[in-house]
Amino acid sequence: MIQLNTFLTGALVCQTGSNMATIESILRENRIFPPANEFVRHANITGMKTYEALRQEAERDYAGFWAKLAKQYITWHKPFTRILDDTNPPFYKWFDDGELNISWNCLDRHLTTQANKTAIIFESDEGEVIRCSYRELHQRVCRFANGLKALGIRQGDRIVIYMPMRIEAVVAMQACARIGVIHSVVFGGFSAKSVYERIIDAGASAVITADEQTRGGKRHALKATVDEALAMGDTTSVHSVIVFRHTGTDIPWQPERDRWWHNLTASQSDECEPIWVNAEHPLFTLYTSGSTGKPKGVQHSSAGYLLGAIVSMQWVFDYHSEDIFWCTADVGWVTGHSYVTYGPLAIGATQVIFEGTPTYPHAGRFWEIIQKHRVTTFYTAPTAIRSLIKLGPDLPEKYDLSSLRLLGSVGEPINPEAWMWYYTVIGQSRCPVVDTWWQTETGSHMIAPIPGAIPAKPGSCTLPLPGIDAAVVDETGLPAEQGKGGFLVIKRPFPSMLRTLWNDPERFRNTYFPADIAGGHYYLAGDSAHRDQDGYFWIMGRIDDVLNVSGHRLGTMEIESALVAHPLVAEAAVVGKPHEIRGEVIVAFVVLRGKLPDDQQAAEIAETLREWVSSEIGAIARPEEIRFGENLPKTRSGKLMRRLLRSLARGETITQDISTLENPVILEQFSQTI
Ligand code: WT7
Repeated sequence: MIQLNTFLTGALVCQTGSNMATIESILRENRIFPPANEFVRHANITGMKTYEALRQEAERDYAGFWAKLAKQYITWHKPFTRILDDTNPPFYKWFDDGELNISWNCLDRHLTTQANKTAIIFESDEGEVIRCSYRELHQRVCRFANGLKALGIRQGDRIVIYMPMRIEAVVAMQACARIGVIHSVVFGGFSAKSVYERIIDAGASAVITADEQTRGGKRHALKATVDEALAMGDTTSVHSVIVFRHTGTDIPWQPERDRWWHNLTASQSDECEPIWVNAEHPLFTLYTSGSTGKPKGVQHSSAGYLLGAIVSMQWVFDYHSEDIFWCTADVGWVTGHSYVTYGPLAIGATQVIFEGTPTYPHAGRFWEIIQKHRVTTFYTAPTAIRSLIKLGPDLPEKYDLSSLRLLGSVGEPINPEAWMWYYTVIGQSRCPVVDTWWQTETGSHMIAPIPGAIPAKPGSCTLPLPGIDAAVVDETGLPAEQGKGGFLVIKRPFPSMLRTLWNDPERFRNTYFPADIAGGHYYLAGDSAHRDQDGYFWIMGRIDDVLNVSGHRLGTMEIESALVAHPLVAEAAVVGKPHEIRGEVIVAFVVLRGKLPDDQQAAEIAETLREWVSSEIGAIARPEEIRFGENLPKTRSGKLMRRLLRSLARGETITQDISTLENPVILEQFSQTI
């Protein structure tokens, strides 16, 4: 049972099912929701005492704690004898004399016990359902891996995957893992330019794609985008493009380079001996935005990464063998890597994969899928929750959501009102909500409630998982005062952390272990946070200029570079502005070459630039607003006054010192919304 009294002294404990009308008026969040008894009865980890015991175990023998889990949850081809190698910080290694294969751990090891269990329940955009058992998935992965080998693809090669959200995307990733090929998935919504940049940075030898993808009733060209990307520069490293036939539309074809997926796999064997790799062998790279420069190729290991995914499935998602797990993330994001492709399969779960969008062909689509497939564990992003709240509470009420037992949230802080709606309307005050804080770089959950143990507070990701030494500190590395903001850091290396940035170890060190914060000894997450009287973590936002649009990280620099690459633009700066549904939207401040445009021209140019950014980066980076001025506000030393721009974007009164502005009239110009 929960030890509330000792742990949460003086805190207000609410009854479940609290009244929505009171929610908005509560400014300082002090509601606490202990897990329901019914949930605790069946939970993997129950009560604060158990949680505290696990934390203390990790405290007493940190390496031993992780080694025990690594032996328990991973099947090793060659057992490891070394645990943590920290002789060359910050380049840490875990279990590095062990050997394993990730795909073998996700597939083969289930064949003796549950070959006929459904691994994937796939639902297409149009509602077609395809079930795939562990045995079938294993065969499909083997056949495809053999196909890759037939093309001369070998261990250590890099492959870019640009696929729709279908079973084939998982097959492609798993097949790479099976033969030691490092995959780099590019989200299907990204542009040709993004695909090109990732191909070049990774030095990819092949691209796996489809003719088109279908989402929300709309079709988007994938193969044509890959063709465009490959024509953008020297992409001779790419010898093969493998194309999955999805919609069957006509596509351009280069016979010496392009291969149909179905032809490649047609005569391949259903068996493919896995390549046993070292624990530290890179499993994948995934590109993510930073505040400066090009996207960073976050490089993950094999064993440590897998361990994080499995342990969090157990602890945070409280995995039970009869669960129907549904994570709505696309495999183009890290959430789709850890909680679609790897975690659920490694643990032997049945999961739903959905190709479409929450509101097509009707606004109840998510709830309909939960009802139809009897989903027990549902994991989505606050932006999706907020957009569904808008559609009204009566909509979910039309569906039978009684199969649900756990709800999860990821990507950005979830506002307390959205949390309450999720908890009461979707979870019917029965299901714990796990607000999971983590990052592309951390590979798996870091700070999140263990649902049978830790009472939740709406808007807080609660407490670190056992073995994760998270803290909020000042520059010197000392703990920030209670309630005061500071840098969110992780003080000790942990198994699932990124190992480096692809081809850029210096940038890895400077970004995540900068010498001027705590002497460079801690992993710096890039978020600010504070802790309350119970030690709960509250994420406050990024410390850099990274934006969070619909739960996805976008670098200001990338968008600014895209804007100035347009011939009409001389200078540009972008900032985020809070948005009810999408978290943040992009406001761009643009200085054009030549005169300030009149209103009509401004509207036309703004539209041109929006389209331009969409095609340069992807629709997700499209600026919501574009404002024009004669120059950008800068300090005397020439530094962009980003905070001032943020105030202008939000329509706030200006409190910053503007005495150094050469041309104050730009404040007037940049206040105009187009
Ligand atoms: C950034 C990481 C982790 C997968 C999805 C995004 C923000 C993420 C939360 C949360 C508050 C959150 C942080 C973090 N973030 N989850 N539960 N509460 N903020 O991965 O693109 O690597 O972004 O997303 O700012 O640093 P990502």
